[in-house]
Amino acid sequence: MKGIILAGGAGSRLYPMTRVMTKQLQSVYDKPLIYYPLSILMLGGIKDILLITTPDDQPLFKKLLGDGSQFGIHLTYKIQEKPNGLPEAFVLGEDFIGDDHVCLILGDNLFYGDLDFFRKAIESQKNKENSLHGRVFAYYVADPSAYGVVEFDKETKKVKSIEEKPAKPKSNYAVPGLYLFDNTVAKRAKSLKPSPRGETEIVDLILSYHHEDKLGVEMMYRGLAWLDTGTPRSLLDAAAFIGAIEERQGLKVACLEEVAYRMKFINLEQLQQITASLPKCSYRSYLEKIISEEL
Ligand code: DAU
Repeated sequence: MKGIILAGGAGSRLYPMTRVMTKQLQSVYDKPLIYYPLSILMLGGIKDILLITTPDDQPLFKKLLGDGSQFGIHLTYKIQEKPNGLPEAFVLGEDFIGDDHVCLILGDNLFYGDLDFFRKAIESQKNKENSLHGRVFAYYVADPSAYGVVEFDKETKKVKSIEEKPAKPKSNYAVPGLYLFDNTVAKRAKSLKPSPRGETEIVDLILSYHHEDKLGVEMMYRGLAWLDTGTPRSLLDAAAFIGAIEERQGLKVACLEEVAYRMKFINLEQLQQITASLPKCSYRSYLEKIISEEL
């Protein structure tokens, strides 16, 4: 199973903050936004990850994350010249995906909670024997009109329709920015035509699986938090949410060094070395506390 993080785009709704720094590097409480989706892939056991960015932002991401070896993962980078649509991630990632399955996460999506069902979905997708060809999620939100919206048949519970940003949504179920596909995805993505807004649409890609009866849609239950970070308000809400959880528990969300250690991507000695190289700050103190509890 390969992982792709799509972290390009203009971030125009966050202007002027995004004039010099892309959305996915903005802070969400105590760490850059990109840490959160990256942690989800790592928690799913995915180590081979492609990070797609704009040409201008690639050096910044490389400065922040390097080749990923400090987290026991392998990060590669690719440029998306223009925001031509989410499916382009698979066209750009075709060679990277190769014969494997792939999990795409959008660089501005933040998930929190018992992530076991993601892990299970990723696990069963990894097992090619019984994996679905395409697998997406559905999450109940108050206003789904800014998202892909999935409608279920009341009796059969089967998917009836999936629409991108409908003016009149047919249900409250939005499709979060986490998608699992088989290796036919690049071929499918290449055959998509741009929508009237000039981009290829992820919903059309999802529908191509649905039309062949090869799509699974899993409910993401309400105990999980899925937060959006596209506007100043939603960024503030996400930071307040993470801040509240972290201060209450004294545990960090998406601390990549900790995730790497707990997933056994790095050992205690490596964690000690990384921690010793950090400047004196609360992030370092947090890692020192974890190390002392493990000794
Ligand atoms: O967040 C989930 C939603 O993400 C889904 O429900 C929608 O079906 C899906 O289309 C997408 O909607 P958004 O309105 O959030 O898409 P947006 O254009 O804002 O792109 C999402 C992220 O991907 C954003 O951080 C920018 C990045 N991006 C976007 C495009 C179109 C790229 O890196 N390249 C692109 O070409």
